Amino acid sequence: MTGNGSAEREVLRLMTGPWVARAVATAVELGVLDRLAEDAADDADGLAAELDLHPDRLGRLLRLLAAVGVLREQRGRYRPTEVGAALRRGHPSGMADLALLYDSDMFTSAWTRLADTVRTGEPAFEAAHGTDAFTYLEDHPEDAARYTAGMAASGRFSTAIPDVHDFTGARVVVDLGGGDGELLAAVLTRAPRARGVLVERPPALAAARTRLGAFVDAGRCELVEGDFLRGVPAGADVYLLSRVLHNWSDEDARAVLRHCREAMAPDGLVLIAERVLPDDGRPWLSSVLDAHMMVMTTGAERTEREYEALLRSAGLTTRRILDLLLEMRLLVAGPAAP
Ligand SMILES: C[S@@+](CC[C@H](N)C(=O)[O-])C[C@H]1O[C@@H](n2cnc3c(N)ncnc32)[C@H](O)[C@@H]1O
Repeated sequence: MTGNGSAEREVLRLMTGPWVARAVATAVELGVLDRLAEDAADDADGLAAELDLHPDRLGRLLRLLAAVGVLREQRGRYRPTEVGAALRRGHPSGMADLALLYDSDMFTSAWTRLADTVRTGEPAFEAAHGTDAFTYLEDHPEDAARYTAGMAASGRFSTAIPDVHDFTGARVVVDLGGGDGELLAAVLTRAPRARGVLVERPPALAAARTRLGAFVDAGRCELVEGDFLRGVPAGADVYLLSRVLHNWSDEDARAVLRHCREAMAPDGLVLIAERVLPDDGRPWLSSVLDAHMMVMTTGAERTEREYEALLRSAGLTTRRILDLLLEMRLLVAGPAAP
């Protein structure tokens, strides 16, 4: 034991992290937070009766959630904290969807094989599920729905993109791998003269149809089933790549960027929303998500310098890097001088 046990305590905190994550996701799954958020403070017995749960075991789950800051306890009665309220279904942050995705077997069984990735360099996901993540999603509609909802939740930062970049002069904006269309909807709302094209694989197109339906009906948006590794729609003045390049190896990411370079208008831009890491130092969230990228895909969270090298190899260069929320940044790239 170290002098005051602080190192051991920290090891315990780190190693019990997955148990806490499971406890939080379980509370979401069982509807505990939804019920607690509706009323004033509730006790475990009353809540157990309403939700048909075991009173003692629920009481112990609530105690843990209070210990980690999800609930607040006063004389045996519980209320959600701000964190607990964010995990309620229907909360605008979508954090309940994110918790269920991060705790899903699709993710956790890949993470179990992290050592394989570190040994071989191959994504653990493929060892766990027998195929790459995006092909897997096409054959597993329940996981695909959970993935699209979780991505939409973790993609809320995107609505701030039109605050930091002016789209009002844009004529055609192509969102490659645009997920459920949240970002493209935000751009089209702020740039009333622009037309949008969302390129996606089939599972996400279903959600995009809902999100972008009004723009499609107004003739301002097209939803295209496509593969950005093979090519991208020609002639746009803005190509959006939000959390796409981090899913791919340098070779594949370069192919996508080259397609954009070849297809874009002469004064076109490529906007990359990613956790672009500073060249020095690694913020914790970006480092965790970088590890997640190597478990799930051939990709990585890259540094500013790494992005610039990638862009240069595709005939592009960084013009600006703008800060968004939660360590996300917007890299604005244009054609490199010949
Ligand atoms: C991490 S998600 C990002 C979604 C969205 N852009 C966002 O930031 O929330 C990556 C997206 O790329 C899509 N995708 C993967 N491979 C693709 C391909 N070859 N062509 C087009 N889209 C693809 C996936 O379906 C998924 O929706």
